[in-house]
Amino acid sequence: MGKATQDLKKEHDAILYVLQIMDKMMLSGAGEEETLLRYYDEVVFFLKTFADMCHHGKEENYLFKALVKKGVPNEGGLIGAMLQEHAQGRDYIAQMGRCHTKKDIAGFNRAAAHYRDLLKRHIDKENNVLFPMADNMIDEQEQDILFEQFEQFEENIIGHGIHEKLHAMIDTWAEAFRVE
Ligand SMILES: [Fe+2]
Ligand SMILES: [Fe+2]
Repeated sequence: MGKATQDLKKEHDAILYVLQIMDKMMLSGAGEEETLLRYYDEVVFFLKTFADMCHHGKEENYLFKALVKKGVPNEGGLIGAMLQEHAQGRDYIAQMGRCHTKKDIAGFNRAAAHYRDLLKRHIDKENNVLFPMADNMIDEQEQDILFEQFEQFEENIIGHGIHEKLHAMIDTWAEAFRVE
């Protein structure tokens, strides 16, 4: 696997891990409503910042563009489908945010379950279809350049401070919800 696709795959693992924690949060149901809402607020922050802005940003701004340059159709094909799923995911995150503001836990859980199912299918397609295709079309040297661009992009979007914050949040959730 090339350096760029490998980086994205590692991020998929992080996103799947958070989705697993989110499932446990939803199932916990009990506990203080305020506590659950605080966790949900953090989850929305993670999904917006890391999953959408950073991860989907790397795919849309660099990887997909590189593939389109090599002749992969932008619309109507696999990339178009991926872009559509990113947009759908963004809608679900926005819905989760609105439910959070209204303290509508049931509504939040519904939107979160839709998001989880969508992202799992999406990640599966990227890992098993899109990335192998990208590895065939983009050579090592070009993957290294893409990876450099990813690093720069991540630095601009997330930076050191937010990176630390995201890690600390995940550690706290994992402990609170006992996820290995
Ligand atoms: Fe994607
Ligand atoms: Fe992805």
